[in-house]
Amino acid sequence: MNQAEKERLARVGKTFNAKKYIAEEIEAIKKQVGDKKVLLALSGGVDSSVCAALLYKAIGKQLVCVFVDHGCMRLNEGKMIKKVFKGQFGVNLIALDCEKRFLEKAKGITDPELKRKCIGGEFINVFADTARDLQKKYGNIDFLGQGTIYPDIIESGVGGHKAVKAHHNVGGLPKDIIFKGLVEPVKYLYKDEVRKVGKLLGLPDEMVMRQPFPGPGLAVRCIGELTKEKLDILRQADFIFRDEMAKAKLDKKAQQFFAIMTNVKSVGVKNGARTFGYVIGIRAISTSQFVKAGVVELPFKFVTMVAEKIATKVKGANRVVWDVTPKPPATIEWE
Ligand code: XMP
Repeated sequence: MNQAEKERLARVGKTFNAKKYIAEEIEAIKKQVGDKKVLLALSGGVDSSVCAALLYKAIGKQLVCVFVDHGCMRLNEGKMIKKVFKGQFGVNLIALDCEKRFLEKAKGITDPELKRKCIGGEFINVFADTARDLQKKYGNIDFLGQGTIYPDIIESGVGGHKAVKAHHNVGGLPKDIIFKGLVEPVKYLYKDEVRKVGKLLGLPDEMVMRQPFPGPGLAVRCIGELTKEKLDILRQADFIFRDEMAKAKLDKKAQQFFAIMTNVKSVGVKNGARTFGYVIGIRAISTSQFVKAGVVELPFKFVTMVAEKIATKVKGANRVVWDVTPKPPATIEWE
């Protein structure tokens, strides 16, 4: 048994019991944090959401969450995060609408890697600015909360997991932002265990059962330059596809399913008039570890129904293509 396995066993035991885990973790957080404050970047993903809920149960208003809307979130995602954490839980949540700032920064960038770097870099700038403001307001914020989970520890090498996960977007904070320690309350849990904890803490299903969504969000599904127009079209199309998948009960068959803004325009016809609109891609994959992925065989009738609905209802889109490429050779995301 290696060090990480030993630590997991000590913390979780041989059989996982969510209720017991929550009770013990609340005590451990209280002991670690005392009367100090914890800052947490909340993305709305399963890990950071469960981490926030657990921290809130333990230390209440000593937890300060920051949610940065980079303008590449899915439809209504920001609203849901605010409703659950601010409304339902009463968490001390700073929700920042940074759409304009991010789109301005990403203007003219079309290369996928540069786009990712731009979004990631700007995220750190926003988070660091907020941390500085809060440190001015509260004196020091001693702890940084992290939704690290057990597979992250395993992936980054046994015994020496990275202090800050890159895809949690707060890696590489500037040197003047100093935290005394990290609080990682779900660090020894597998994803399904994290979900059980979230459910028991009262988080809604749409949050705890959420499919993986990349840190840069729709930016990696919006080919070419990021513009509000293209992102809005994508958001509408993506919502229709995901909604229809759920209605048809096909959502359990796929680990990830989403729409893509292809950046290609084609001719169409709506209400007897010629249109020149964007082509939207749809993709549904099944995978166990996300290293390889297969294409989910959606019923053809369903696919054509979704295509027609998107091309009819979404202004600016007039054609839909179905991505039927496994991984490899294609990646799951388009960028
Ligand atoms: P690819 O596209 O590499 O995706 O086949 C594999 C899995 O990783 C997710 N993904 C990301 N997750 N930050 C994340 O947190 C990212 O930058 C990122 N890029 C890809 C992708 O959604 C899939 O589940």
